[in-house]
Parts: sequence; structure tokens; C-alpha cells
Amino acid sequence: MRNFTYYNPTKVVFGKGSIKKLSKLLPESKIMLVYGGGSIKHNGIYQEVLEQLEGHQWTEFSGVEANPEFDTLMQAVEHAKANDVEFILAVGGGSVIDGCKFIAAAIPYDNDPWEILAGGGKVASAVGLGCILTLPATGTETNTASVITRRKLGKKLPFDSEHVRPKFAILDPEATYSLPERQLTNGVVDAFVHVMEQYLTYPVGATVQDRFAEAILNNLIEIGPQVLLSQDYMLRANLMWNATQALNGLIGVGVPQDWSTHMIGHELTALHNLDHAVTLAIILPRVMHHQKEHKREKLLQYAERVWGLSRYDEESAINLAIEKTEQFFQQMGIKTKLSEYGIAPDVADNVARRLQENGFIKLGEHQNITPTEAREIVAASV
Ligand code: NZQ
Ligand code: ZN
Repeated sequence: MRNFTYYNPTKVVFGKGSIKKLSKLLPESKIMLVYGGGSIKHNGIYQEVLEQLEGHQWTEFSGVEANPEFDTLMQAVEHAKANDVEFILAVGGGSVIDGCKFIAAAIPYDNDPWEILAGGGKVASAVGLGCILTLPATGTETNTASVITRRKLGKKLPFDSEHVRPKFAILDPEATYSLPERQLTNGVVDAFVHVMEQYLTYPVGATVQDRFAEAILNNLIEIGPQVLLSQDYMLRANLMWNATQALNGLIGVGVPQDWSTHMIGHELTALHNLDHAVTLAIILPRVMHHQKEHKREKLLQYAERVWGLSRYDEESAINLAIEKTEQFFQQMGIKTKLSEYGIAPDVADNVARRLQENGFIKLGEHQNITPTEAREIVAASV
């Protein structure tokens, strides 16, 4: 296991009814409530939040899109500055929370905030941020990452800063009852792939991280299909906590990581507006195949411990494990080939070119996935 520092100070308030604890979590500052396209108005969460805001000074900004748009977020920054906002309350899924992380960093940023995403601009401070999560998937509620899209440039870029980690995250599993099947599917698959990208590399003797990762994978395989069929509270609660644990930093400490599936996936979303999780379900099985020799030991461990494939010879176990992974995504309702979305083979060249342009030229735990390998991976996904 490699050396690491682990620090995750987000206060998590979990369980049914926990939105009622919001008022006490909020600071005595001018608050900006930020949400998306209106789902919180249909499921009653907006009303619950308004009750909690009574007695606080606040303003609101709505309309943050799925795959949050830079231009919209810059309008929120202007609104926040004009209203002397000192704390941001994000209510929504990964897009709203990621968007709020960017707003929080952009408010005090001296130069053009686009630098934070595209120019390697350093985030030296940020406005405080708290969140109410309504879609278990990304893990953004307790982590330091954010992914922002700028449609007119065709770019989807991440940034990372300790300054934007939420101060608190309210996780009420009942907030998921209004989710459409497509978003539940996306949540299960996104969380699954987050675990895979921190787990499926090469062994470094990190037994807690490995076993914990395998537990989350097994949980998601077990509860994923069930959450599509029922509103059972325990299933939703477990989905929510698994998704948070998948990307709160814990399973990623002290181990190599491979975020190539995500980085290729972001380009596919920027180019073809595919849902984030859909891109991952398409790309991950092909990365597993392409990198089979480099990931051999971990693939065998994954085959045995997650899929119970211990009776097979090594080659068959690995191939079957990759097959079962793809079948799981299909079982969740995702089509796993680009051609099934009407996307033509030239997508492979386009993705490779964009990775090059954006400087993502050495992906994977061995930094051996250059735009050339990425082109092969995407071509195999058509
Ligand atoms: O905008 P509203 O009206 O709220 O509707 C949303 C949106 O249309 C809806 N929704 C959310 N909660 C709901 C609900 N509908 C009914 N009931 C509810 N309770 O669902 C739609 C999708 O929401 P979105 O926030 O876009 O989904 P998700 O949570 O999957 O977030 C995806 C974004 O997160 C980024 C992705 O790239 C993408 O931009 N990611 C962020 C990460 C991070 N910060 O750590 C890691 C991830 O890998 C990912 O890249
Ligand atoms: Zn993801």
C-alpha cells in the first residue's frame, strides 16, 4: 500500500426526514439556494427546503442543466455577487452539486473562471457549500471533484479542489422516490464504474481498499436490478450509501487508479450528449479487454471474488468477468454499443483528437492509454 493522507470532513446527515435538520446545519450567512430544472418542485423537496430557510437570509438560482453548463453557472456567479451571497445550498443531483462547486470557486476567483477548468487555474478559496442530494450516483456530495460542460466549445472538463468539498451533505433516501428509471440506472452504473476505476489496476497489497471495493460492487450487482422494481426504503438507502462510498476517497487511498473510462466518456458526452453513465457502460468493457494483460492479476481477483468464477481457467475467467460486467449494464437497461445510439465509427477519431487537444494524453494506471489507444478502445465500442 502506498502512503496517503485521508481527510474527508463533510458532515453526512443520512436517513428519512433528514431534510428537517437543514436549518441547524446552515450558517448565519446570506444563502443562495441553487437547483436544476424543477424536479424538486414536483417531489415536494423545494417546499421542505423553504420551510427550513425561514429565518435565514436567502436568494435562489434555478435552471442548472444536466451536465452543468458554464454559461448558466456564470449567470449564477453574477447573481451571487450582486446579492452578496456567502454560502451556497445545492439541492439536486451531481450536476447541480458540481455546478455549485464551480460557482463557489468562481465567485472569489480574480481572473476569468474558465481558467479553473481549461487553464489549470488554481482555486485558492471558495464560498462555503452544503448540499441535499436527490440522485445517488456521482459521489460528488462528499468529494472535491466537479465536471463542467461548455457546449459552445464542445468541452466537458473536470476540476478538483479541497476548497469546494461540501461542508455538509443531507442524504435522504426518500428523495430518490421520484427518480425515473433512467436516472436510477445511471446512478447504479456510475457508482459501479467509480469503484472499478479505483480497483481494477494492479495489486499493491491494500486489503481494506480491495475488500471494501468488492463489497460495493457486490452490493450494486445485488440491489441494482431491484431498485428499478420497487421503492423499498432499505434498497434506496443502500443504493445511496453505496454510491457515496464509491467516490468519497476511501477506496482510492494508497492505490493506483485508472480514470480512462471516465475521461473517454466525458468526450463522448461532449460530442454526442450521451448520459454520463451510458458512456461508462459502453467504454469500460472495452478498456478491460484492451488492458487485459496490464490488469491481469486484478481481473482474476475480480472474476473470483465479485463473480465467483474460480472454477475456470485464467483466460476464461477473465473473459467471462468482462462479459458479465457488460451484461450487468445491459440488465440495468443500458445499450452498450455506440452504434445502438446511431453514432458512426468516425467517433473514434474525434474522441482521440479531443483528448489530445485537452491534454489527456497519458491515461490509465500505467499512463499507457494515449489518444492512439483511446481511438482503438472507442473503435471497439462502436
Ligand atoms: O434538473 P432536475 O430537474 O433536478 O432533474 C434532474 C436531471 O434532469 C433529475 N433528477 C435529479 N434528482 C431527481 C431527478 N428527477 C426526479 N427526482 C429526483 N429526485 O435527473 C436528471 C439528471 O441529473 P444529474 O444531476 O445530471 O445526474 P447525475 O447525478 O448523474 O450527475 C451527472 C453529472 O455529474 C458528473 C457527470 O459528468 C455529470 O455532469 N460527475 C461528477 C462527479 C464528481 N463530481 O465526483 C463524478 C462523476 O463521475 C461524474 O463525472
Ligand atoms: Zn462517474
